[in-house]
Amino acid sequence: MAKGKQSRAKQEIEQAPTRVAEEALIKNIRTINVPQPVLRRNRVITTLEDGRIVDSYKLLRTRVLRAMQQNGWNTLGVTSAGPNVGKTLTSVNLAISISLKDNLSAMVVDTDLRRPSVHSIFEIHPDFGLEDYLAGKASIPSLLINPGIEHFSLLPNKGSRDGASSELLGSPRMLQLVDEIKAHFAQQIVIFDLPPVLVGDDVVAFAPHLDAVLVVIEDGKTQTPELTHTFELMSEINILGTVLNKSNDALKNMEYYYY
Ligand SMILES: Nc1ncnc2c1ncn2[C@@H]1O[C@H](COP(=O)(O)OP(=O)(O)OP(=O)(O)O)[C@@H](O)[C@H]1O
Ligand SMILES: [Mg+2]
Repeated sequence: MAKGKQSRAKQEIEQAPTRVAEEALIKNIRTINVPQPVLRRNRVITTLEDGRIVDSYKLLRTRVLRAMQQNGWNTLGVTSAGPNVGKTLTSVNLAISISLKDNLSAMVVDTDLRRPSVHSIFEIHPDFGLEDYLAGKASIPSLLINPGIEHFSLLPNKGSRDGASSELLGSPRMLQLVDEIKAHFAQQIVIFDLPPVLVGDDVVAFAPHLDAVLVVIEDGKTQTPELTHTFELMSEINILGTVLNKSNDALKNMEYYYY
Protein backbone atom coordinates (compact mmCIF):
# COMPACT_ATOMS: atom_id res chain seq x y z
CA MET A 1 0.00 0.00 0.00
CA ALA A 2 1.31 3.49 -0.82
CA LYS A 3 2.44 5.43 2.21
CA GLY A 4 -0.26 8.10 1.84
CA LYS A 5 -2.99 5.45 1.57
CA GLN A 6 -1.58 3.54 4.51
CA SER A 7 -1.59 6.55 6.79
CA ARG A 8 -5.09 7.51 5.61
CA ALA A 9 -6.33 3.98 6.40
CA LYS A 10 -4.65 4.16 9.81
CA GLN A 11 -6.24 7.54 10.45
CA GLU A 12 -9.68 6.18 9.48
CA ILE A 13 -9.30 3.22 11.86
CA GLU A 14 -8.20 5.53 14.65
CA GLN A 15 -11.13 7.86 14.01
CA ALA A 16 -13.77 5.14 13.80
CA PRO A 17 -14.49 4.76 17.54
CA THR A 18 -14.60 8.57 17.93
CA ARG A 19 -17.05 8.84 15.07
CA VAL A 20 -19.34 6.17 16.52
CA ALA A 21 -19.24 7.74 19.99
CA GLU A 22 -19.90 11.15 18.51
CA GLU A 23 -22.82 9.95 16.40
CA ALA A 24 -24.34 8.39 19.53
CA LEU A 25 -24.00 11.69 21.38
CA ILE A 26 -25.89 13.67 18.76
CA LYS A 27 -28.38 10.97 17.76
CA ASN A 28 -31.03 12.06 20.21
CA ILE A 29 -30.69 15.81 20.11
CA ARG A 30 -33.87 17.81 20.09
CA THR A 31 -35.30 18.67 16.68
CA ILE A 32 -37.45 21.74 16.14
CA ASN A 33 -38.60 21.90 12.54
CA VAL A 34 -38.35 25.59 11.73
CA PRO A 35 -40.74 26.59 8.93
CA GLN A 36 -39.20 27.67 5.63
CA PRO A 37 -40.72 31.19 5.70
CA VAL A 38 -38.99 31.83 9.03
CA LEU A 39 -35.66 30.70 7.60
CA ARG A 40 -36.25 32.81 4.49
CA ARG A 41 -37.06 36.03 6.32
CA ASN A 42 -33.96 35.60 8.44
CA ARG A 43 -31.74 34.96 5.39
CA VAL A 44 -30.83 31.36 6.16
CA ILE A 45 -28.85 29.96 3.26
CA THR A 46 -31.07 26.91 2.59
CA THR A 47 -33.89 29.23 1.50
CA LEU A 48 -31.92 31.86 -0.43
CA GLU A 49 -32.83 32.08 -4.07
CA ASP A 50 -29.99 34.38 -5.10
CA GLY A 51 -27.39 31.91 -6.36
CA ARG A 52 -24.64 34.49 -6.03
CA ILE A 53 -25.12 34.71 -2.27
CA VAL A 54 -25.22 30.93 -1.94
CA ASP A 55 -22.02 30.76 -4.03
CA SER A 56 -20.32 33.35 -1.80
CA TYR A 57 -20.97 31.14 1.22
CA LYS A 58 -19.70 28.10 -0.69
CA LEU A 59 -16.50 29.94 -1.52
CA LEU A 60 -16.10 30.96 2.09
CA ARG A 61 -16.75 27.35 3.13
CA THR A 62 -14.14 26.01 0.70
CA ARG A 63 -11.46 28.38 1.96
CA VAL A 64 -12.28 27.89 5.62
CA LEU A 65 -12.40 24.10 5.29
CA ARG A 66 -9.14 23.98 3.39
CA ALA A 67 -7.32 25.90 6.12
CA MET A 68 -8.99 23.96 8.92
CA GLN A 69 -8.42 20.53 7.41
CA GLN A 70 -4.79 21.31 6.55
CA ASN A 71 -4.15 22.22 10.16
CA GLY A 72 -6.34 19.54 11.77
CA TRP A 73 -8.56 22.23 13.33
CA ASN A 74 -12.27 22.02 14.17
CA THR A 75 -13.08 25.10 16.27
CA LEU A 76 -13.56 28.49 14.64
CA GLY A 77 -14.63 31.80 16.21
CA VAL A 78 -16.48 34.50 14.29
CA THR A 79 -15.98 38.04 15.52
CA SER A 80 -15.78 41.67 14.35
CA ALA A 81 -14.55 45.07 15.50
CA GLY A 82 -17.98 46.49 16.40
CA PRO A 83 -21.57 45.29 16.66
CA ASN A 84 -24.21 44.48 14.09
CA VAL A 85 -22.01 43.61 11.12
CA GLY A 86 -23.41 40.14 10.46
CA LYS A 87 -21.36 37.82 12.70
CA THR A 88 -24.32 35.69 13.74
CA LEU A 89 -25.70 35.34 10.24
CA THR A 90 -22.23 34.53 8.90
CA SER A 91 -21.71 31.91 11.66
CA VAL A 92 -25.04 30.23 10.96
CA ASN A 93 -24.84 30.29 7.17
CA LEU A 94 -21.22 29.17 7.09
CA ALA A 95 -22.07 26.26 9.43
CA ILE A 96 -25.10 25.29 7.35
CA SER A 97 -23.08 25.52 4.16
CA ILE A 98 -20.54 23.13 5.73
CA SER A 99 -23.32 20.77 6.86
CA LEU A 100 -24.62 20.58 3.27
CA LYS A 101 -21.33 19.07 2.17
CA ASP A 102 -21.06 15.27 2.13
CA ASN A 103 -19.77 13.67 5.31
CA LEU A 104 -19.55 16.93 7.23
CA SER A 105 -21.49 18.16 10.23
CA ALA A 106 -21.38 21.57 11.79
CA MET A 107 -22.50 23.20 15.01
CA VAL A 108 -22.90 26.84 16.04
CA VAL A 109 -22.33 27.73 19.67
CA ASP A 110 -23.82 31.06 20.77
CA THR A 111 -20.97 32.53 22.79
CA ASP A 112 -22.21 36.10 22.54
CA LEU A 113 -23.30 36.23 26.15
CA ARG A 114 -24.29 39.89 25.94
CA ARG A 115 -26.43 39.81 22.81
CA PRO A 116 -27.17 36.15 22.10
CA SER A 117 -29.09 35.82 18.87
CA VAL A 118 -28.42 32.47 17.20
CA HIS A 119 -31.83 31.27 18.43
CA SER A 120 -33.54 34.38 17.02
CA ILE A 121 -32.43 33.54 13.48
CA PHE A 122 -34.59 30.41 13.85
CA GLU A 123 -37.20 32.26 15.93
CA ILE A 124 -37.00 29.64 18.63
CA HIS A 125 -37.19 30.30 22.35
CA PRO A 126 -35.06 27.71 24.08
CA ASP A 127 -35.80 26.91 27.70
CA PHE A 128 -32.19 26.03 28.31
CA GLY A 129 -28.93 27.34 26.92
CA LEU A 130 -25.22 27.79 27.35
CA GLU A 131 -25.76 29.53 30.69
CA ASP A 132 -27.14 26.24 32.06
CA TYR A 133 -23.96 24.48 30.96
CA LEU A 134 -21.87 27.23 32.56
CA ALA A 135 -23.85 26.82 35.79
CA GLY A 136 -23.10 23.09 35.71
CA LYS A 137 -26.79 22.25 35.25
CA ALA A 138 -26.77 20.81 31.72
CA SER A 139 -24.57 18.78 29.40
CA ILE A 140 -23.68 19.88 25.88
CA PRO A 141 -25.77 17.21 24.05
CA SER A 142 -28.82 18.02 26.18
CA LEU A 143 -28.69 21.65 25.00
CA LEU A 144 -28.19 21.04 21.29
CA ILE A 145 -31.06 21.77 18.92
CA ASN A 146 -31.44 20.70 15.31
CA PRO A 147 -33.67 23.28 13.59
CA GLY A 148 -34.69 20.79 10.90
CA ILE A 149 -31.47 21.00 8.87
CA GLU A 150 -29.53 17.76 8.52
CA HIS A 151 -26.04 17.53 10.00
CA PHE A 152 -26.44 20.92 11.66
CA SER A 153 -27.07 21.85 15.27
CA LEU A 154 -26.95 24.88 17.48
CA LEU A 155 -26.13 25.38 21.10
CA PRO A 156 -28.25 28.37 22.09
CA ASN A 157 -27.82 31.03 24.69
CA LYS A 158 -31.14 32.30 25.86
CA GLY A 159 -30.47 35.39 27.94
CA SER A 160 -28.43 38.53 28.20
CA ARG A 161 -25.91 39.06 30.97
CA ASP A 162 -24.62 42.59 30.82
CA GLY A 163 -21.50 43.10 32.81
CA ALA A 164 -20.66 39.54 33.74
CA SER A 165 -19.91 38.44 30.21
CA SER A 166 -16.17 39.06 30.12
CA GLU A 167 -15.66 37.08 33.27
CA LEU A 168 -17.81 34.23 31.98
CA LEU A 169 -16.14 33.95 28.59
CA GLY A 170 -12.79 33.69 30.33
CA SER A 171 -14.14 31.37 33.04
CA PRO A 172 -12.78 27.86 33.60
CA ARG A 173 -16.19 26.43 32.69
CA MET A 174 -16.05 28.17 29.31
CA LEU A 175 -12.63 26.68 28.67
CA GLN A 176 -14.02 23.32 29.71
CA LEU A 177 -16.71 23.78 27.05
CA VAL A 178 -14.03 24.17 24.37
CA ASP A 179 -12.10 21.17 25.72
CA GLU A 180 -15.25 19.04 25.79
CA ILE A 181 -16.20 20.07 22.28
CA LYS A 182 -12.72 19.25 21.01
CA ALA A 183 -12.79 15.87 22.78
CA HIS A 184 -16.35 14.75 21.97
CA PHE A 185 -17.22 16.58 18.74
CA ALA A 186 -13.91 16.23 16.94
CA GLN A 187 -15.63 15.18 13.71
CA GLN A 188 -17.68 18.38 13.51
CA ILE A 189 -16.74 21.87 12.51
CA VAL A 190 -17.78 23.97 15.49
CA ILE A 191 -18.34 27.68 14.98
CA PHE A 192 -18.41 29.99 17.99
CA ASP A 193 -20.49 33.13 17.41
CA LEU A 194 -18.48 35.62 19.47
CA PRO A 195 -19.13 39.18 20.67
CA PRO A 196 -17.33 42.06 18.94
CA VAL A 197 -13.70 42.59 19.97
CA LEU A 198 -14.02 46.28 20.85
CA VAL A 199 -17.12 46.00 23.03
CA GLY A 200 -15.46 44.19 25.94
CA ASP A 201 -12.41 42.10 26.62
CA ASP A 202 -14.31 38.82 26.17
CA VAL A 203 -12.98 37.88 22.79
CA VAL A 204 -9.34 38.61 23.48
CA ALA A 205 -9.59 36.47 26.62
CA PHE A 206 -11.43 33.60 25.01
CA ALA A 207 -10.37 33.36 21.36
CA PRO A 208 -6.86 31.99 21.98
CA HIS A 209 -8.56 28.77 23.13
CA LEU A 210 -10.12 28.31 19.70
CA ASP A 211 -8.16 27.05 16.73
CA ALA A 212 -8.74 30.16 14.65
CA VAL A 213 -11.10 33.11 14.10
CA LEU A 214 -12.73 34.90 11.20
CA VAL A 215 -13.26 38.66 11.35
CA VAL A 216 -16.45 39.99 9.76
CA ILE A 217 -16.31 43.50 8.30
CA GLU A 218 -19.35 45.48 7.23
CA ASP A 219 -18.78 47.09 3.88
CA GLY A 220 -18.71 50.88 4.18
CA LYS A 221 -19.24 50.83 7.95
CA THR A 222 -16.26 49.20 9.65
CA GLN A 223 -13.61 51.93 9.84
CA THR A 224 -9.90 51.34 9.26
CA PRO A 225 -8.75 52.62 12.71
CA GLU A 226 -11.16 50.28 14.56
CA LEU A 227 -10.06 47.41 12.38
CA THR A 228 -6.38 48.18 13.01
CA HIS A 229 -7.07 48.30 16.74
CA THR A 230 -8.95 45.00 16.53
CA PHE A 231 -6.04 43.28 14.81
CA GLU A 232 -3.60 44.76 17.33
CA LEU A 233 -5.66 43.34 20.20
CA MET A 234 -5.77 39.98 18.46
CA SER A 235 -2.07 39.77 17.65
CA GLU A 236 -1.78 36.47 19.56
CA ILE A 237 -4.87 34.98 17.90
CA ASN A 238 -4.86 32.89 14.80
CA ILE A 239 -6.85 34.93 12.27
CA LEU A 240 -7.97 32.80 9.37
CA GLY A 241 -9.29 35.66 7.28
CA THR A 242 -11.79 38.48 7.02
CA VAL A 243 -15.27 38.37 5.53
CA LEU A 244 -16.65 41.48 3.86
CA ASN A 245 -20.38 41.43 4.58
CA LYS A 246 -23.34 43.57 3.51
CA SER A 247 -21.53 44.78 0.44
CA ASN A 248 -23.62 47.15 -1.68
CA ASP A 249 -22.52 45.32 -4.74
CA ALA A 250 -24.72 42.21 -4.85
CA LEU A 251 -21.99 40.32 -6.68
CA LYS A 252 -19.66 41.01 -3.81
CA ASN A 253 -22.28 40.36 -1.13
CA MET A 254 -19.68 38.47 0.75
CA GLU A 255 -16.01 38.30 0.09
CA TYR A 256 -13.24 36.56 1.85
CA TYR A 257 -9.68 37.67 2.32
CA TYR A 258 -6.77 35.94 3.87
CA TYR A 259 -5.27 38.02 6.58
N1 LIG B 1 -25.25 40.14 4.04
C1 LIG B 1 -26.33 40.67 4.63
N2 LIG B 1 -27.28 41.25 3.88
C2 LIG B 1 -28.38 41.80 4.45
N3 LIG B 1 -28.61 41.82 5.78
C3 LIG B 1 -27.70 41.26 6.57
C4 LIG B 1 -26.51 40.65 6.07
N4 LIG B 1 -25.79 40.18 7.10
C5 LIG B 1 -26.50 40.48 8.21
N5 LIG B 1 -27.63 41.13 7.90
C6 LIG B 1 -28.66 41.61 8.85
O1 LIG B 1 -28.03 42.55 9.72
C7 LIG B 1 -28.51 42.39 11.06
C8 LIG B 1 -27.34 42.09 11.99
O2 LIG B 1 -26.82 40.81 11.64
P1 LIG B 1 -26.21 39.86 12.77
O3 LIG B 1 -27.13 39.72 13.92
O4 LIG B 1 -25.76 38.64 12.07
O5 LIG B 1 -24.97 40.78 13.20
P2 LIG B 1 -24.01 40.60 14.45
O6 LIG B 1 -22.68 41.14 14.03
O7 LIG B 1 -24.06 39.21 14.93
O8 LIG B 1 -24.68 41.57 15.51
P3 LIG B 1 -24.34 41.65 17.08
O9 LIG B 1 -23.11 42.49 17.21
O10 LIG B 1 -25.58 42.24 17.68
O11 LIG B 1 -24.10 40.24 17.55
C9 LIG B 1 -29.54 41.27 11.01
O12 LIG B 1 -30.81 41.85 10.90
C10 LIG B 1 -29.18 40.51 9.75
O13 LIG B 1 -30.29 39.86 9.15
MG1 LIG C 1 -24.52 38.44 16.81
